[in-house]
Amino acid sequence: MRYGILKKLKEAQAFVSGEELAADAGVTRAALWKHLKAMKEEGARIDSVTGRGYRLHTPPDVPRAEYVKAYMSADAEVFFEDSTGSTNEDAKAAALVSGIERAVFISGQQTQGKGRKGRSWVSPPGGLYMSFLVRPDIEPDKVPGLTLMASVKFCEALEQETGTSAHIKWPNDILIGGKKAAGILTESMIGMDGVEYVVCGIGINVSTRFEGELKKKAYSVDTNRTLLAAEAADRFFEGYDTFLAEGLKPFMPEFRRRNAISGQVTVISPRGNETGGFAGFDDTGAILLSIDGQEKRYVAGEVSLRGDGVYV
Ligand code: BTN
Repeated sequence: MRYGILKKLKEAQAFVSGEELAADAGVTRAALWKHLKAMKEEGARIDSVTGRGYRLHTPPDVPRAEYVKAYMSADAEVFFEDSTGSTNEDAKAAALVSGIERAVFISGQQTQGKGRKGRSWVSPPGGLYMSFLVRPDIEPDKVPGLTLMASVKFCEALEQETGTSAHIKWPNDILIGGKKAAGILTESMIGMDGVEYVVCGIGINVSTRFEGELKKKAYSVDTNRTLLAAEAADRFFEGYDTFLAEGLKPFMPEFRRRNAISGQVTVISPRGNETGGFAGFDDTGAILLSIDGQEKRYVAGEVSLRGDGVYV
């Protein structure tokens, strides 16, 4: 119901009479008024002028499925919970019991948010937590590339909605002003026939006041979560289609342009910790280090930059 009202107002970009809005949505004027009131309570800015009707300024901030869908062009299912344990877990559970091909699970709070390496992801109310479920027909060794594609696309979405430039700390941290604004956790199920599904989750710090040590390391954006979620979803699925057709290569120039790593770095990889001079990324998304005059490549792991203990 609210999807139709919001879409109509969004597309009109002008005043729409209450009569027309109500008729379009198939509700009474009184019911329409209640929906508009509820959306305003969720952060929407809707002007109303007697005799002219209603004009949408900003959609509700709460990223409900029907609001996000009104702003999204991608063809994918959208699910929303005010609060959940973990959107990655929700997506994985749905993947097991349904044949859903493309979906995004969104929540405004997580009680058991998961970070990389078994860490937890602090997920207070008011943030934006999203997990994308896809079923790519790719070799298992190409799955990490999806995280890099997603990093690029989420940077673009953040920039579009916040007007601040975003960088990537390989493979999955999104930085604004040198601080972590978002993190990505990709999980996949590999069966006998290859990749069954991939869940790519992103947690974005929104309107959070960090205190103490975290204040130095974490960044929080102030932006409308419905718009950000829709932008992130459209960019992700657009990137996903390119990834399926052409692989990771087309994303690597942009990935390199957004790279935040330089100088001496330690790669924490399944092979152990190794320190060397950062020497770039190859087209498969592997990080290259120069160690004792030799170039070494690492396909998985994470990077510790000098003096930034929080991500290690
Ligand atoms: C990291 O930087 O360690 C990755 C953090 C990933 C957090 C997101 S929030 C949405 C999705 N659900 C989870 O439980 N984790 C990811």
